[in-house]
Amino acid sequence: MSNASELSSLAALRILLLGLISFLPDSLVLGLLLSQVSTEQILILEPTLLTSRSYLNSTTNMDQSCESIPTNFTSVISMLTTSKQSHLVFKVGTKFHKDPSRYSNTGLGPSIHLFSTLETKQAVAHKSMFTPFFSPEAIRRVEPLIQDFVNKFMDKMHTAASSGNVVNLSQGFRCLTADVIMNYSFQRPLGALEASDFEFPLLNALDGFAHTIQWRLYFPNAVEALFQIIQVLPAKMMAGFMEPLRSTQECLSFCRNRILDLKKRSPSPLSNVPTVFDIMLNPNTSKGQWTPELPTLTSDALMLLLAGTNTTAHTLVVAVYNLIHSPHLVQRLVAELRGAMSEPCSQNDWANLEKLPYLRAVVKESLRLSYGAPGPLPRVVPPTGAFLAGQHIPPGTVVSLSNLVYNHDPRVFENPTQFRPERWLSGTTSEMERHMVSFSRGSRICLGMDLAYAELYLTLGHLFRRYQLELSGVTSADMEWDDMLVPITRGTLRVHVKESTM
Ligand code: HEM
Repeated sequence: MSNASELSSLAALRILLLGLISFLPDSLVLGLLLSQVSTEQILILEPTLLTSRSYLNSTTNMDQSCESIPTNFTSVISMLTTSKQSHLVFKVGTKFHKDPSRYSNTGLGPSIHLFSTLETKQAVAHKSMFTPFFSPEAIRRVEPLIQDFVNKFMDKMHTAASSGNVVNLSQGFRCLTADVIMNYSFQRPLGALEASDFEFPLLNALDGFAHTIQWRLYFPNAVEALFQIIQVLPAKMMAGFMEPLRSTQECLSFCRNRILDLKKRSPSPLSNVPTVFDIMLNPNTSKGQWTPELPTLTSDALMLLLAGTNTTAHTLVVAVYNLIHSPHLVQRLVAELRGAMSEPCSQNDWANLEKLPYLRAVVKESLRLSYGAPGPLPRVVPPTGAFLAGQHIPPGTVVSLSNLVYNHDPRVFENPTQFRPERWLSGTTSEMERHMVSFSRGSRICLGMDLAYAELYLTLGHLFRRYQLELSGVTSADMEWDDMLVPITRGTLRVHVKESTM
């Protein structure tokens, strides 16, 4: 096994960490876990520590992993290897609830918010107060808002083209998506796109927060205890102590203040300029709606900021990086865009852009290789048990779908690591469509799927119609990523920009 030494050093590192904090119950649990699993089983667990490298080294063992589930070991993650099996678990009204060990420790806030609500029925009730704002029709209604921010982004590109400055697109895309989701959430400008060089402090804090997530997943009690202590220190000391935890605090305070301001503006009848918190702040109790407590609203806002910013921005990074690498793909895309927008500065809407076959293929392929939530999405087998992966799985076992594993399945996607939009243009894409689970499925499907689609089409369509881009010293190492609930690349995508002349 090529990655055996990597695994044993990882195991040694884990044990060392466990030793350091062995006075805490977290470490006890992990210690027991490590002493009971063999290397094969560590491979099954490995995707919880995903990086782009560790994933590629470990996938070849996925099939064996399913066969090696010990039936008496109730906390093993098994990968569901066919889309039929994932449909059993990830369906509307599923009885496979979210696994607390992943979802209760994300650090999105102390309270039960949508993302961390485990039980399907409870989550659906909560989610139904958001869904009217994220349906395709609702997103079409707020399309002018999205288009406004796309235009602002294009103006910044224009400035960079005139000055010859290098643009950090990783930051730029995050500013764009953050401005969209935060404006839609609060009807107040965030101003991220206005920041010089796209360096916006809240997004740097969000990055810091994201870097605490793996620690929280593995050592929830230790990190929480540290967090509690640090919170009472003066801000300056806090920063010196541990920047990421201070960042978490900053993100939570920002979201809490935005909710408090929104509450002050209530009660407003559902306005014609909606905020996604309208129903929650003006609930119709006869329909079973309610106003969650402030900590829950705060956590929901942070969830929207993280889920609505980094995911779509990462997909845009994957699209642009891979396109620029292959000029013939850009040529084909631009030729198609010229047909839909006669001048470089022309505009078109989401509905029309979505009809362009090649742009559509680029969006699909970028989603396939950007993974949204790249780690496992663990669910607990209900008390009835289940028959999955060819065997009976006892109640309480944790099973998981990983869209990263699905999106790379060589049985469905030929040369799966290659960026090939053409694969979506052949007549037979239905198996690929069924197999691609970038937004998950069923009751816990991504809330922001249509918003993400609108942002992807509008941004990529207008960007490639108006500008020519060239990488500025970006290597493939910059594009390696780590799983922090969302993928975060290790470097940034920097480009030179030129106006298109025709
Ligand atoms: C390319 C963009 C995106 C991708 C690939 C993506 C992917 C996903 C995936 C795979 C999940 C399931 C996670 C799990 O079960 O652990 C999810 C959930 C979620 N996403 Fe997205 N997402 C994207 C954009 C967005 C946007 C723009 C929003 C903003 C509203 C958003 C909000 C959410 C929320 C709130 C959930 C939790 C839903 C629930 O727990 O029921 N996502 N997303």
